[in-house]
Amino acid sequence: MVKKHSKKGFIIAIDGPAGAGKSTVSRLLAEELQGMLLDTGAMYRSVAYFGLRAGAKTERDFAITARALTFQPSPDRRHLLVNGIDLGLKLRSPKVSQAASSVSRFKAVRDALTRRQRTLGKSWSKKFPVVLEGRDIGTAVFPQADYKFYVTADSKVRAMRRFKQLKKTGTKIKLSEILRQNQHRDEQDSTRKHAPLKCAADAVVVDTSRMGIVQVVKFMADHVRAHRELV
Ligand code: DC
Repeated sequence: MVKKHSKKGFIIAIDGPAGAGKSTVSRLLAEELQGMLLDTGAMYRSVAYFGLRAGAKTERDFAITARALTFQPSPDRRHLLVNGIDLGLKLRSPKVSQAASSVSRFKAVRDALTRRQRTLGKSWSKKFPVVLEGRDIGTAVFPQADYKFYVTADSKVRAMRRFKQLKKTGTKIKLSEILRQNQHRDEQDSTRKHAPLKCAADAVVVDTSRMGIVQVVKFMADHVRAHRELV
């Protein structure tokens, strides 16, 4: 029998590798459910961005950066403000992407960000459905999440999506280079010692290789609604 949930706020964990469409799907699902989105990748990216700017080199340096940052939703709840600023595309460059993956290996950084993710997730979920998007949400940050999805796609499809995204922003990069960078990042994210990227045993796997965004979001929203009363 399907277990029915009725509380207003709840937690949805969305994990998966780079470029599987997680960000778009998470944003649209949060909108569809009139909830909040916590993009935890943006938190690791912010640590990399501010850390690099401050000349951070060691685990201790990056952990100090992580602890000093503040995170809050923008008034329209669509973006994460870091130290009160929407850093937008500054967080999306290949350099910051690679650095984010590197700093995410540091336990002291993970501990600092995991604590913040739990605090924000718990507080927002008192009022809203909260979608947390990342690599370790369903396995480490919220292993008791109400819903867990693992969003993935074929590596060539993922590289092509990132290529189109970067092209739009005017970044010149070859498709083969993105494929190489993604493979390196996936390898680094899934083999690291602390909270590596992996599919939680109880997650619903969503392979987006041959699915459009609308179809994916509908599938996930239907899944959530099927387990809830009158949403
Ligand atoms: O989802 P993203 O590409 O914006 O994430 C950037 C990096 O941050 C990713 O390579 C791994 C790391 N990350 C993590 O280790 N744990 C998370 N919950 C989210 C991201």
